Formats: sequence, structure tokens, C-alpha cells
Amino acid sequence: MSFGRLRSILPTTAAKSSAGHLVVGGCDVVELVEQFGTPLMVMDRTTIESNAAKVISEVEDAARVFYAAKSFLCVAMCQLIDGLGMGLDVCTGGELETALRAGFPGDRILFHGNNKSADELEAARAAGVGRIVVDSFDEIQRLTDAEMSTKLLVRITPGVEAQTHQYVRTGQEDSKFGFPLGDGVALDAVRRAMEVPGCAFVGLHAHIGSQIFDLGGFDLAIKRISDFAALALDKLGAEIVEVNMGGGFGIQYVEWEDPLALNEVARGIVQDVRKQFKKRALGEPGVFLEPGRSIAGPAGLTVYTVGTVKERSGERKYASVDGGMSDNVRPALYGSSHEALLANRVDAKDDGVISIAGKHCESGDVIIHDAKLPANLSVGDLVCVTATGAYNYSMASNYNRTPRPPVILVADGNATEIVRRETIEDILRLDVPLTG
Ligand SMILES: Cc1ncc(COP(=O)(O)O)c(C=O)c1O
Repeated sequence: MSFGRLRSILPTTAAKSSAGHLVVGGCDVVELVEQFGTPLMVMDRTTIESNAAKVISEVEDAARVFYAAKSFLCVAMCQLIDGLGMGLDVCTGGELETALRAGFPGDRILFHGNNKSADELEAARAAGVGRIVVDSFDEIQRLTDAEMSTKLLVRITPGVEAQTHQYVRTGQEDSKFGFPLGDGVALDAVRRAMEVPGCAFVGLHAHIGSQIFDLGGFDLAIKRISDFAALALDKLGAEIVEVNMGGGFGIQYVEWEDPLALNEVARGIVQDVRKQFKKRALGEPGVFLEPGRSIAGPAGLTVYTVGTVKERSGERKYASVDGGMSDNVRPALYGSSHEALLANRVDAKDDGVISIAGKHCESGDVIIHDAKLPANLSVGDLVCVTATGAYNYSMASNYNRTPRPPVILVADGNATEIVRRETIEDILRLDVPLTG
């Protein structure tokens, strides 16, 4: 039975109705489809909040957990995160503006990015952004020119190859992000960050990658950061009062994955930083984290309608749905996997092997290869792909001029449209016809 098999991947509030429908946040998903159509993104508020609480419980102050906006952001999400007292990690002017429209306090925003423009820095200055993570020497000059007055952290690449897909590895020395520890580069960056007028250098940042299951990478990164903190104190008198270890905590996408509990991961990192700093007599820094996927990912589902089923003897069976790589590019981009069940018959036996194909003109547009689904899956069934809350909507595109789906927040039996369905008119609005 798919519901039981996938229970640990589904949002925490997932249940079955007496009609055999999937229920999330107290809302019958089939009824949501009747109201909002497909493709449909559903986000479960309780799952977002309980995941956030697991990380918050391991730090002294909720504001030390910066939710990574890139994983999923809209005005309502900013309001939710603000309501939890958390910080917000943004990495573009667009993410910053979304937060400001939501009334998110500037001092709880941290600004990332390997190419922050002068305009973005000016927007950050005007918004009173609390922290900027410095990523390059060019940026240090721009910060001076922008007359910023904020806390600065220096992003270092600790030379750690996280055990994850190469596209989401960021801690290795050969990276577009941050300053490598070798050749005195990071030390020079700290020296120059300390000299930016009006700003206060407070610490170091490292984010080693995403969807990480093995804590060994964090362990090594923390040792290297601690050694570097000792060096920076010794050579520059730089006191590291903040250590931000980024995000990257893996979540379960498929049946066989078994990530560590989120609170244990957060606790392990916080304790390890403290231990390593203590060992080097560096005092007790504030430890900050930036989870994105682990907060939003498990909260999300994408519901599609099956439009065609193609079966030829001896070949793969395909069911094509009304979305695809335009709303979930991860399988095509990273070769990542998902599970699925039928929202309209959650108890149907998953006795078939069917690939869920998107509707786009790319052979690579397959959301799931060889999904376990009912063999009698047919046109009109509602395929619900699980764990799509992170890096799905935020990476969505208009490929093939496809409007993006709406996002519905569910909680306590109420469904709230937090992002409306895009229309072809929205897309055409930017087109400028040739005249003459
Ligand atoms: C600097 C930084 N912080 C935090 C995150 C969030 O990572 P995740 O969503 O895997 O928790 C990312 C993601 O790439 C990142 O680049």
C-alpha cells in the first residue's frame, strides 16, 4: 500500500479519508484539485513549523536559524518564518525584496551571494540588513563604496568534499563560492573585512553542500574553521564571535533513504563547533545555521493529473502528467529521485512499475523513473509526487511557455492560496511585439 510505504516521506499531517483520498493539513487533496486544478503544489504548514522547531530547539535563539530562502520563498513563507522568530538567508535582491514586502525585519536578514551587485548592496543598506556574508575581494570594495553599516562574516571554503551531488557541493577549494583557506587567501579576506569602515567583522561562514547525509563533512569543516579561527586571532587579532555552518541537511526523498533526525544533526554541529573552539581556547561563539531543504522539502507535494498512459510490451510504461521539469527540474538537473502515490486512491496496491513523465519537449523530462504505482493507473488519476517543497517552486520555469502552478498552504482543514496560478497572460505580459 503506497500510503503506508511512503508514510515517513509524506508531510506529518498526512492521513487517508474514508474515500481513500490523501488528506494533508486536514484538507482532502482531491477536493483541493477540484478547487485549484492541477498541477498543484501543496505545502503543509505544520510540517514547516515542526521542522523549524527541531533546529531552533538546538540553538539559544530562533534568530540564529536563518531559513534559506532559495529553497522556497514567497511573501507568505516570509511571514511564517518571521512569526517563528527566525532569521532569513537571502542571496539576491529579489529574495530580499520579497522579504521586505512581507515586513520581515531587516536586522534578521543575512545576505549571501557570490556576485552581489552595487544595487543589491544599496538595497541591503537601505533595508538595514543585519549581516552580510562576504564572498569575494571585489565585494569588499563594493561594501566600502556602499557605505554599509552591518555585521560581516567571511565565507570560507574549507576544502571539504561533501558526499552529495557535485552540483550541490560547495565546500571544496575549487568553488565559485567564498575564500579558500590555502595560500593565505581567507586570512587576507578577514583582514580586509575588518577594515571595511562602518562594518563589524563578526565571524566565519561555511556551507559545504546540500542533501548531505554523512556528518563527517561537517566534522572536518568545523575542525578546519576552528584552526583558521585560531590563526585569524593569532595573526590579525580577529575575534570570531559567530560561526555559521550553513545548511545542507539531507531529507528523505525515496523509500530507502534514512536521514539522521534533524534536531540531532543541528545539535551535533552546534556542540562540535563549541567543542573545537574550546579546545583551541577561542571562547564560545554563537553558532548559526541556514537550513532550507530540511524545513520546506518534506512539507511539499505536487499533484498532477495523468493525461496519457503509454505501454508497449517489453518497454517501460510511461504515464504523462500535466507538469514536469518546469515545476520540478531536480530530476533533470541532478538526476534526483522522488516517490509518488495516487491522491485519489492512496490504498491502491502499488503493484506496477511506471515512469512518470512530464509534458515538456525533452526526453530528460521524466519526474520519476520506474515508480512503484498501481498497475491499473489510468488517465485522470491524480499522481502526487512527495517531498517537493524545496527547490521545486523556487527553481520553476516557464519552459515551453508553461505557466507555473499555484502554491496552497494547508493547515487545520483550511487551504490558503499563497501563490496564485500563473496564466499565459502573465507570461505574455513581458513580450514586446515587433511593430512595422
Ligand atoms: C549558503 C547556503 N546556505 C544554506 C543553503 C541551504 O541548503 P539546504 O537547503 O540544503 O539546507 C544553501 C543552499 O545551497 C546555501 O548555498
